[in-house]
Amino acid sequence: MHKTTARSPVNSQPQQATVVSASGVAGDDREFLFTDQDFERIRKLIYERAGISLSPIKRDMVYSRVARRLRATGLRSFTAYLSLLEQGDPVEMEAFTNSLTTNLTSFFREEHHFPMLKEHLRPRMKKGAVTIWCSASSTGEEPYSIAMTVAELYGGIPNNVKILASDLDTNVLDKARQGVYPLDRVSKIPEDMLRKYFMRGSGAQDGFVRVRPELQAMLSFRQINLLDTSWPMRGPFDAIFCRNVMIYFDKPTQHGILEKFVPLLTEDGVLFAGHSESFHHAADLFKLRNKTVYELAEPAKKRAHRSEGR
Ligand SMILES: C[S@@+](CC[C@H](N)C(=O)[O-])C[C@H]1O[C@@H](n2cnc3c(N)ncnc32)[C@H](O)[C@@H]1O
Repeated sequence: MHKTTARSPVNSQPQQATVVSASGVAGDDREFLFTDQDFERIRKLIYERAGISLSPIKRDMVYSRVARRLRATGLRSFTAYLSLLEQGDPVEMEAFTNSLTTNLTSFFREEHHFPMLKEHLRPRMKKGAVTIWCSASSTGEEPYSIAMTVAELYGGIPNNVKILASDLDTNVLDKARQGVYPLDRVSKIPEDMLRKYFMRGSGAQDGFVRVRPELQAMLSFRQINLLDTSWPMRGPFDAIFCRNVMIYFDKPTQHGILEKFVPLLTEDGVLFAGHSESFHHAADLFKLRNKTVYELAEPAKKRAHRSEGR
């Protein structure tokens, strides 16, 4: 996905510069000088801000994404740009963060989770309200897939099921809110569901579909940083989706987030993880129920729910 966050250039084009490689040897000619020190400063900033651990192999990717921010701000060196961030410019910090997140997603990604969600929710249908948190929702394909699964289970759009979709990246949240996708993004959705839950665009919108407002009504969107020490909602959620984001975090960061999930889940709530994510290191908090689906471990369940009498 291309990352483009606009900000008017204020200066003219910078001179060509030389990249200094990890060994300190001059490498390819590039537009801006990019030193080991610059890379380390970026690693520190994004780790502190988003929890994202950037490995040295991401160096070229980091250069090209952050270089776009230099062009957008009109700054002529990484040093100047990083000083701006370190001084705490909130607007640029948001754009910088957005530029370094990876937002790959798709409708019904890891499709085995959706029948599992259905079976998890089925006994809850008669009990009343159901709440689900999709905690790294990217451009919206994941929370809309959850919403379609719910609607299929209930045989219509229920008014007592709420889905919170959140992400740190404000650009992807805007796209998710719009709910407009090119046809090739929805090609794997069965035709009958496409007709039920999307409207086809015409004229300027030809080649696009838009999520129907009735389905959208189940969702609310909010910027939430998983790294924050406190989150704005109390829960409890019947299910939390936290898929394909923990891979960017180190184990202590993952553990801290999992700890905060515990009191936000109902006692029998489930946590959906991504295909390459495993929480064995947090066996005190979560235990595997099924393929990449977790439930609260006994000690965590007792600790979280004893005081509230749930
Ligand atoms: C690879 S996408 C995964 C999207 C979706 N969950 C899926 O599995 O298809 C990772 C998402 O995590 C978000 N993200 C990264 N760091 C985050 C943080 N600290 N808090 C919340 N979201 C974060 C990114 O912005 C990105 O949209």
